Amino acid sequence: MLIQFNMHFTNIAEGIVGNRLRNDDEGPSFDVLNRFVKSKFTHIHGNTPFKIPMYRGAKIDMSLYACTFKRIAKVSVYIFLVLIAWKCLGNIYTKTNFYEKNQVLDYMDRKSNFRPTSSTETFDLSPIELIRQDCGELCDTDRPGTPGPFFDHMTAKINCNALFTNEYIDREHGQKKAPKEIPKVLWNEFTMNNRLEVVSYYFDEHSLGKRKHISVPVWTESEINGLISKAKKGRLVGNYGVNNTNALRDGLKHAPGVKNGRVLVIGSVKPWAEACVLEAGAREIVTLEYGKIVSHIPNVKTMVPYEFRMAYLNKTLGEFDAVVTFSSVEHSGLGRYGDALNPWGDIIAVARGWCVTKEGGSLTIGVEYNNNQDYIRFNADRCYGKIRYPYLATNWKQFYRGYSGKGIQRVHVFTK
Ligand SMILES: C[S@@+](CC[C@H](N)C(=O)[O-])C[C@H]1O[C@@H](n2cnc3c(N)ncnc32)[C@H](O)[C@@H]1O
Repeated sequence: MLIQFNMHFTNIAEGIVGNRLRNDDEGPSFDVLNRFVKSKFTHIHGNTPFKIPMYRGAKIDMSLYACTFKRIAKVSVYIFLVLIAWKCLGNIYTKTNFYEKNQVLDYMDRKSNFRPTSSTETFDLSPIELIRQDCGELCDTDRPGTPGPFFDHMTAKINCNALFTNEYIDREHGQKKAPKEIPKVLWNEFTMNNRLEVVSYYFDEHSLGKRKHISVPVWTESEINGLISKAKKGRLVGNYGVNNTNALRDGLKHAPGVKNGRVLVIGSVKPWAEACVLEAGAREIVTLEYGKIVSHIPNVKTMVPYEFRMAYLNKTLGEFDAVVTFSSVEHSGLGRYGDALNPWGDIIAVARGWCVTKEGGSLTIGVEYNNNQDYIRFNADRCYGKIRYPYLATNWKQFYRGYSGKGIQRVHVFTK
């Protein structure tokens, strides 16, 4: 038994140190291990049962450890690189193909199983009621329209001063996470009394106030010049692929006020839409974006909603010849970007644009569009058809419809 144990222990000891020991003067002393093994065994048996085949001065060969570490490090680097490549390819694929291939299918494939949350007792309705009051007729999504070239034409008396004075419109939702469900008390407003289907599709990106998901973007002159020259060649990928970029460029050619004009862009992450607007001949751009952006481009200024509202109220904002927005206002009021829930967030954003546009100016807009199927993917976005588009474009006259292309964010141009 003792012999067996001795052999076993010797094997372990040799396994640990075995050929990792050599008799030269390099490396740390083996004494510590030698003493550790002896003391453990002495503790159990009261004596040292075998002679460890080492002698004072034997050294651990660190080069063998180094070799193993090197291998582990190499493999880790490979794994890391593969993960990065995976993520990058994923992003490129998502950005270039998502809107062009998957979005409609994605919606169609989902079963509509979305219902309002029942835990709504704590939802504070008073800001919504204050918005409703200031919004007036504009937020009444039951009012009738008249037939228009593409869909019904809708009008309303818009109280611009009230829309800009109301601070609740630009407030943050203030929760740790973006809302996942439509509160029951707001269900009818969001769905236009169940006329819009609702499916679930969740994001939490938080642009309004402090950006959580990205650092503050800095736009430079060289960046925008590069984007403009790609746009000129019809090869600007932008955020949604070349087809969508060119659809926007086409719309801008038909939009009164863009050439030589002062243009308001609503919603922007990268300045690809701004590049298209400058390429179309705009003189100056103000980009209104929930999240802060620093622009070093001389004729592109950026504002967050609070600055925009204040500039309007103290009369320093000035008027615009045109408004341009692509894939942005369909998110307004859904909470995805840190904004507070607002069933009319999209309608109010476009109406504010109407307020600051000169007579004869234009709105060029690309939002998800399907004339036969309006829906909300909460909290991701809305898709506009004959039910909601008329309200979104309240008071704007339908002027031009861009080609359908492959994307679903079809461009429409309206005039004031
Ligand atoms: C999907 S991203 C696309 C932005 C832009 N089309 C692009 O490709 O760079 C939508 C952006 O619109 C912004 N946004 C949505 N509604 C807005 C509003 N009412 N005012 C300002 N920014 C808005 C969000 O903060 C977000 O950055």
